[in-house]
Amino acid sequence: MQIKSAIFYKSAQDAKGYPQDALPHIAVAGRSNVGKSSLLNFLVQRKNLVKTSQMPGKTKLINFFLINDAFYLVDIPGFGYAKTGREIKREMEEAIEGYFKSCKSVVGLLYLVDIRMTNSPVDRDGIKWLSDFEIPILVLATKVDKFGKEKSRMEAKKIAAEYDLPEAPILTSADKKMGRDEVLEQMQILLDSAKPV
Ligand code: GTP
Ligand code: MG
Repeated sequence: MQIKSAIFYKSAQDAKGYPQDALPHIAVAGRSNVGKSSLLNFLVQRKNLVKTSQMPGKTKLINFFLINDAFYLVDIPGFGYAKTGREIKREMEEAIEGYFKSCKSVVGLLYLVDIRMTNSPVDRDGIKWLSDFEIPILVLATKVDKFGKEKSRMEAKKIAAEYDLPEAPILTSADKKMGRDEVLEQMQILLDSAKPV
């Protein structure tokens, strides 16, 4: 897949705000601070299309980015940030759940895990929670520049074993520009497999 165009389309809190057309969505989710926004920018090769944060838990709304006028990449608010108040946390969970339950256009979910967190209750619960929506989930490991290649591969295997994944996560680094082709290829597969025959 080539990214020919990428624009910020809109933000939404609930179903009223989702794009109203029939284009497919690929959602991107993971714990707060895992590197979702950075990875999105890297995938679409734009420095600041998606705001990245020093302050974890900053992305509160669901953000839609229109890619190639053909599909949406959807930045889901990061969950599990300890300092998020209980009320806001509940609202965010409802917003996320509402999106996956009500939006019929989601063809796949990229779930991001930090390569340094091989055994995290937030990710274990997050993957389990999102698996219930019966959307194909592709797990990506972020920030693999923190480790060498071998170590990253080993940690990725651990992650797969811990969370009972069918395959090891794809290794990515927005900082060192790693893993882009493989992720785009998998995204194309998600889009193709969702097309009516
Ligand atoms: P929220 O929207 O706040 O939930 O965070 P996010 O998941 O969108 O993460 P974001 O992309 O804002 O990045 C969080 C932090 O991780 C920032 O300090 C980034 O600089 C850092 N980061 C993101 N990607 C990478 C990477 O590939 N390598 C390294 N070393 N750091 C990264
Ligand atoms: Mg973000």
